[in-house]
Amino acid sequence: PQRTQLGEGGELLFAGAPVSHLAARFGTPAYLIDEAQVRDAAHAYRRALPEAEVAFASKSLCTRAVLRWIAEEGLSLDTCSAGEIAVARAAGFPAERILLHGNAKTPEDLKAALEYGVGRIVLDSLDEIEQLGSVAHNAQRVLIRVTPGVSGETHEAITTGTEGQKFGFSLRSDVRDNVDRAVAAVLAQPSLRLAGMHCHIGSQVSRVDRYEEAARRMIEVLVHVRETHGVTLHELDLGGGHAVPYVNDDASFDLDGYARRLRVALAYECSSHEFPLPRLTIEPGRAIVGAAGITVYRVCAVKRGARTFVAVDGGMSDNARPSLYGARYTARLVGRRTKAARTPMTIVGRHCEAGDVLAADIRLPDDVHAGDLIAVPCTGAYHHALASNYNLVGRPPLVSVRQGNATLVVPRETEEDLLRRC
Ligand code: LLP
Repeated sequence: PQRTQLGEGGELLFAGAPVSHLAARFGTPAYLIDEAQVRDAAHAYRRALPEAEVAFASKSLCTRAVLRWIAEEGLSLDTCSAGEIAVARAAGFPAERILLHGNAKTPEDLKAALEYGVGRIVLDSLDEIEQLGSVAHNAQRVLIRVTPGVSGETHEAITTGTEGQKFGFSLRSDVRDNVDRAVAAVLAQPSLRLAGMHCHIGSQVSRVDRYEEAARRMIEVLVHVRETHGVTLHELDLGGGHAVPYVNDDASFDLDGYARRLRVALAYECSSHEFPLPRLTIEPGRAIVGAAGITVYRVCAVKRGARTFVAVDGGMSDNARPSLYGARYTARLVGRRTKAARTPMTIVGRHCEAGDVLAADIRLPDDVHAGDLIAVPCTGAYHHALASNYNLVGRPPLVSVRQGNATLVVPRETEEDLLRRC
């Protein structure tokens, strides 16, 4: 649940700070992140699954400040590029707690991982096994990513556990790049040490039974590997993808139910195959930072026609999710009190595309006007991370707030920044 609170005179308090003061101090649009809420979410995961390793998926929000909080909370880190490793390194994130993912790791990605000495690299193709095998040293620990054939029942662009999408080795014996070939290829590389198996069924997944199913299938994979290749693997990484509610009718993710049902499924499946319970890793990103962030915009114009449009000073460059996934959001007016009736309006951005819609048909006060501030909740994950410079708009700053005190953790991009690449 969002921790923003209504204050005096229609003010919105974010982590104890009045949002209109933050907007005046840092400008708009601005991403705000509640440090305590991020730490609490990280802590909730550790408490729900004390026996598991919880690796924060840095792709959801990767800044030095955030990674320092994550490291302090005792989590591990899922990275997927040399860039993310560089930020982790700059934040002093312990290398042995880092995993590197990716279906097309470049030589630079592998080099960065080996130089920093990341704990595990998750292998996703036969080519990669050969490439890493020839440059790795010190028996690099690796996991193999598997396509478990389980759908997360989510948007197609973020469904990753089924055949026919690009991630993982197939369980099918009739295709070339299947798990058996991958295991044999890794075992043939003296510089690699196979530690376990990985899968990730998708993102914004709310159904716990999908994870249970993936867990069962992955134990079957471990049992199969023991039978076929004679090695017992001790690590199982079930990925992330736990959903966060963006609008009222979105399902939320039952973390305690997930922990309980996963524990039972793993114990049952392992004991029926007399297989030792593997060490579990999970990789939540959105569920740690999503609800801890909001974005504040200023209204530039209101247009009352066939539909009422409220145009703000940001848009698809700071929130790509509606255009990429048809994602839905809510929004509210902040900073002033009004008794005006609330009517359906559509919040649009400033970009030169008709699809630049932030929130369609949401209720805002009739008297909303240019100069008003609008807050969009639940923008901590995949907003800063997915931001672009489309139309050469500078990306917003990220401001962390804790007990009413704000700190600029990422400055707003300036014209000078933009000119560097144009
Ligand atoms: N582990 C792996 C291997 C992943 O690929 C991902 C996300 C995660 C963990 C973390 O997933 P999360 O818990 O954050 O859902 N841009 C999309 C989401 C893409 C997710 C990509 N992989 C969005 O904004 O909905």
